[in-house]
Amino acid sequence: MRLKDKVAIITGGSSGIGRAITLGFVKEGAKVVIAALHEDKGIEVQQEVKDMGGEAIYDTLDVGNVDAHEKLIHKAIDAFGKVDILVNDAAYARREEVLEVTPDSWDKQLDISLKGLFFLSQHFSKHIIEQKTTGRIINIGSVAGVMDFHPISIAYHAAKAGVMIITKVMAVDLANYGITVNCVAPGSIATPMSSSENTEYDEYMTKGIPEGRRGRPDDIVPPAVMFASDEAQYITGQTIFVEGGALSVYLGRDEPDFKA
Ligand SMILES: NC(=O)c1ccc[n+]([C@@H]2O[C@H](COP(=O)([O-])OP(=O)(O)OC[C@H]3O[C@@H](n4cnc5c(N)ncnc54)[C@H](O)[C@@H]3O)[C@@H](O)[C@H]2O)c1
Repeated sequence: MRLKDKVAIITGGSSGIGRAITLGFVKEGAKVVIAALHEDKGIEVQQEVKDMGGEAIYDTLDVGNVDAHEKLIHKAIDAFGKVDILVNDAAYARREEVLEVTPDSWDKQLDISLKGLFFLSQHFSKHIIEQKTTGRIINIGSVAGVMDFHPISIAYHAAKAGVMIITKVMAVDLANYGITVNCVAPGSIATPMSSSENTEYDEYMTKGIPEGRRGRPDDIVPPAVMFASDEAQYITGQTIFVEGGALSVYLGRDEPDFKA
């Protein structure tokens, strides 16, 4: 077990990629704090963990509300005595064209997906330093941080690009304290956030993925476990893309109906 007795806080742990990471960490021996928006789903995943013989608590959190961060960390410490790992999975994206974005929509996407992620990481880091232990921060980025990802909003792109650069800057600043900061950046993964129920959308998104399928939430678990583990103590500031090869392809692989 690579995360035996580690305590992990996972924002967005009630659904999609966050749920998969939560269950993956529990399989590796971690105790988990699921922090998400919707209580019913959070309680369901908490129960799944218990059914696996693991330990979990749930906390309703709007990560965009920075005043709630301290309470979350305290809840984790009250339940499990310490914190070791923070997975920043929660994010918010709208579908809107460049000419449609409003300041309110921009602020909401950035507040949840970037500002919330940063300030929760800051709180977490202060507690690790107080505990005098080592810490692991794993940010969930996106290919949207480095390329257009229609039909998602430009504000989400800006947030995800921000996630990659703050991963590096936090990694440098926190290295002295034994805290590593890394990022896992998924490509198109079939989850509630990305219309997993819609076959047409699935087909559209699969074009241009060399692996020939969209990702599954479980595809994101191995790099997250690796970054969280003690073995990864010398790995920091890195982003691993998990996208079935999509970033290596120009315009997909469909045969054109003309000779080049
Ligand atoms: N699904 C994809 O194709 C894809 C691709 C690239 C990156 N990502 C990233 O993966 C992460 C998870 O996405 P997903 O597809 O699993 O989403 P999802 O919709 O399945 O789950 C989102 C989770 O975040 C929580 N959440 C939403 N807003 C929150 C808030 N304000 N405060 C706290 N929790 C909140 C929800 O309760 C839920 O648990 C996100 O960071 C997303 O940007 C997803």
